[in-house]
Amino acid sequence: CRASGRSARGAAAGGWPCALARPRLMTAPDVVSYWQNVFEKNGIPEARESSEYIVSFVLGAKTFQSLDSKKLCAPLTAVQQEQIQQLSCKRLERMPVQYVLGEWDFQDLNLKMRPPVFIPRPETEDLISLIVEEESRKCEAKNSALSVAIPSPVILEVGCGSGAIALSLLCKIPQSRVLAVDKEETAVDLTRENVHRLQLQDRIHILHHNVSYGSAKLLLPWGPMDFIVSNPPYVFHEDMASLDAEILRYEDLDALDGGDDGMRVIKIILTLAPSLLKDSGSVFLEVDPRHPDLVEDWLCAHPDLLLTLRAVHKDFCGKPRFLHIQKRSR
Ligand SMILES: C[S@@+](CC[C@H](N)C(=O)[O-])C[C@H]1O[C@@H](n2cnc3c(N)ncnc32)[C@H](O)[C@@H]1O
Ligand SMILES: *[C@@H]1O[C@H](CO)[C@@H](O)[C@H](O)[C@H]1NC(C)=O
Repeated sequence: CRASGRSARGAAAGGWPCALARPRLMTAPDVVSYWQNVFEKNGIPEARESSEYIVSFVLGAKTFQSLDSKKLCAPLTAVQQEQIQQLSCKRLERMPVQYVLGEWDFQDLNLKMRPPVFIPRPETEDLISLIVEEESRKCEAKNSALSVAIPSPVILEVGCGSGAIALSLLCKIPQSRVLAVDKEETAVDLTRENVHRLQLQDRIHILHHNVSYGSAKLLLPWGPMDFIVSNPPYVFHEDMASLDAEILRYEDLDALDGGDDGMRVIKIILTLAPSLLKDSGSVFLEVDPRHPDLVEDWLCAHPDLLLTLRAVHKDFCGKPRFLHIQKRSR
């Protein structure tokens, strides 16, 4: 379950109708094969997909499959070939294709990507669905109680990175407001750019802040919160060295490294949660598969926090990945 994104719909275009193209004029499929071959010879992972993404991007499409036959058969211009070469050279240095293109899709949002800001992973899309489901469940309960108030949940995101989670939630929950916090200026800047790109600035506040055990006072004026969501750094420190070269060379490792037990930031979030959440408010976390048990033990050892582990949800690879933790009312 790693970041390859835009899902590997990358099967080669079998039988493209260009058999009569003159050999010296390079068409898109020719160029894709050429760079695939270069990538393979240089040991670059996902050689075919990388090449397809780069060529499609330069031709103004998101996937190779979505190129129409006209674009597939037309010889590329010198400018296009040069652009492809420039991008491919970055990929040859193991730069993730998301940074090479400078943009990537998360759910149906097209987001700017820039190193070293964490690239949103496909499994995180399921975290959004869990919150949307919980919100609509709460709405149904309220409606059946004949409340007429329009729900406008307040959501805190700890560690917004590129803004992927915050922006998705703003789109999927139309009346929601989000406070998006990140300790890195590069992340806060990129979230801001993506917010404006998608014209969602009216319902979000972005805060450059390093969340710690003392952050409640600073964050509470935007609350109390209905939800706290985070895809925190959760990789166990000892696992950091075995990450892919793409990650180790280009991504901010602080965005991934969760300390010895991967729980450094998780513990901060859970400690802050009772004072930031409304009664029955929820924390949704993406975690390592070893964390559900560790977090449950930790919550048992901290009963004063009044937090209950409500549910553990699996990711699309079947690994326990998402925690729903709820605040009990006193
Ligand atoms: C795994 S990334 C997630 C980024 C984004 N939410 C996503 O899912 O694509 C974790 C983010 O948390 C930020 N972060 C880590 N510790 C933090 C802290 N104590 N306070 C605020 N942000 C923090 C990092 O800078 C990084 O952007
Ligand atoms: C954030 O705070 C932690 C201590 O909680 C500190 O170790 C770290 O260096 C700080 N990071 C930034 C970017 O300020």
